Amino acid sequence: MSDSIMKVRDLTKDFPVREEGRFFSRKSVFRAVDNVSFDVPAGGTLAIVGESGSGKSTTARMMARLLDISSGSVELEGKDITRVEGADLHKVRQTIQVVFQDPYSSLNPRHTVERIIMAPLDYQGVKPPKGRSTMVKELMERVGLDPNASQRYPRQFSGGQAQRIGIARALALKPKVVVCDEAVSALDVSVQARVINLLKELKQDLGLSYVFIAHDLAVVRQIADDVVVMQRGQVKEAGPRDQIFDAPQDAYTQKLIAAVPKIDPEWEERRQRYMQQHPLAAATDES
Ligand SMILES: Nc1ncnc2c1ncn2[C@@H]1O[C@H](COP(=O)(O)OP(=O)(O)OP(=O)(O)O)[C@@H](O)[C@H]1O
Ligand SMILES: [Mg+2]
Repeated sequence: MSDSIMKVRDLTKDFPVREEGRFFSRKSVFRAVDNVSFDVPAGGTLAIVGESGSGKSTTARMMARLLDISSGSVELEGKDITRVEGADLHKVRQTIQVVFQDPYSSLNPRHTVERIIMAPLDYQGVKPPKGRSTMVKELMERVGLDPNASQRYPRQFSGGQAQRIGIARALALKPKVVVCDEAVSALDVSVQARVINLLKELKQDLGLSYVFIAHDLAVVRQIADDVVVMQRGQVKEAGPRDQIFDAPQDAYTQKLIAAVPKIDPEWEERRQRYMQQHPLAAATDES
C-alpha cells in the first residue's frame, strides 16, 4: 500500500506540569509524545502498540484534533490539519471518528440507542435525508444489531453489542478514518474476534482506514497492515506487520512480541465455523 491517507510528522505533545520540590515549586513540561512520525495507509490499518503510558492515546487524540498539538504536523488527505479551526476543524472531526475502550462509559446511559447514534449528526446540525429512524436502523443493521432495538438503553446491551453501538455512532457521519483506541480491549476473546471481523468488513465495504490502538499484540496481528511500536513517547520501531512480528529489530519490540500468546489459526477457524453453524451458541457468546 503506497498511498497514505494521513501523514504524521515529528508530532510532539508537552503537557504543562508543576514540579513540587521541598523548597520550590516550578512550572515545567512533561513530553508525552516526542517527535513521532508515521503514515496511515489509505484503506489500511495502522496499529499503535506499546506499554501503558507510552503516548498512544495522546498521539491519536492529536491526530483527531481532539487535543492541541505542541509541535510537528498532521496531514489528512494531503491537507495540513495541524492548526485548522472553525469550519475546517468541523470537517476534520467529521472525517476522523474515534471509538473508545469502555463501551458503557462512552455511551450516555440515559439516552436511547437512536439518540446516541444520531448524536454526531445532531451536534453538527446534519439532517439525514432519509429520516432519522431509517438511518438509525440502517446503521444498526450495518453493525449487526437488531434494528428494532433502537429505543432501548445502553445497559440493556451486552459489552460486545454496546461496542457495536459505539461503532455505529462513529459511522454516522461517514468518516474516512476511524481511530479505535483500545476499542476491543475490554471484551471477551470470542466477542473481541467478532467485533474485529466487523471492523474488517466495514473497512472493506466502506473503504475506511483505521488507526488501531491496542496493547494486545495478538489482536494487532489479526488486523494491522503496518505497526508502530511506542515507548516513553517515542517510536521505537515501525514497519509492515510481518516485519515487526517476524523479524523485530528493536530490543523492546522483541520483548513485546515474545510475550504474545500464539493463536492456533486452524483451531480458531474451526471455532468460527461452529459459531456460524450454531447461531444460538454465538448469541449467548455475546450476551
Ligand atoms: N492531560 C494530561 N496532563 C498531563 N499528563 C498527561 C495528560 N494526559 C496524558 N498524560 C500523560 O502522558 C503519558 C501518555 O499517556 P497516554 O494516555 O497517551 O498513554 P497510552 O499509551 O495511551 O497508555 P494506556 O495504554 O494506558 O492507554 C502518560 O504518562 C500520561 O500520564
Ligand atoms: Mg491510551
